[in-house]
Amino acid sequence: MKTAILYQSLRGGTKKLAHSLAEDFHRKGSAVGVYPITEIDAQFVLTADLLVIGTWTDGLFGLGARPAQLNKINTLPDITHRNVALFVTYEISPDNSLKGFSEWANRRGASVVATHGFKVRGPFRKDIGADMASFVDDALSQFLPAQA
Ligand SMILES: Cc1cc2nc3c(=O)[nH]c(=O)nc-3n(C[C@H](O)[C@H](O)[C@H](O)COP(=O)(O)O)c2cc1C
Repeated sequence: MKTAILYQSLRGGTKKLAHSLAEDFHRKGSAVGVYPITEIDAQFVLTADLLVIGTWTDGLFGLGARPAQLNKINTLPDITHRNVALFVTYEISPDNSLKGFSEWANRRGASVVATHGFKVRGPFRKDIGADMASFVDDALSQFLPAQA
């Protein structure tokens, strides 16, 4: 099982989260590569079972929230029929940017297996560890052996 985590970060919060998520995926038994969207290892990404793609929420803090810098994320290789788990970071609400991000992935023909929003600015919220664990479990659920 191989997971590629691809992130877009402006001020470092999404980058920090991507690396923390990588530790969680690794702990759950997956091989992990973590890359900024613009510096991916194409071979690793091509052979990964799961692509985890994350960006920050851009907008006017309350209006027009959307996944940031989709133009850069659009430079990824073809993700048609790939399993993708999407995450966004945010300060006010992740809802619209997660919705926009899911629509983007669906338009690209990807199979979205999990989505999650994380508030990372400032000290991590008390429960962000639990949020991360539930996102990782969701994303990995279809790769675990079926329950008898
Ligand atoms: C220009 C700009 C616009 C933003 N607009 C929103 C917004 O509309 N809604 C929201 O919840 N967060 C908004 N944010 C907050 C960021 O999404 C949040 O701080 C994110 O975690 C930043 O990630 P980074 O540290 O990787 O850059 C905005 C941040 C910036 C810089």
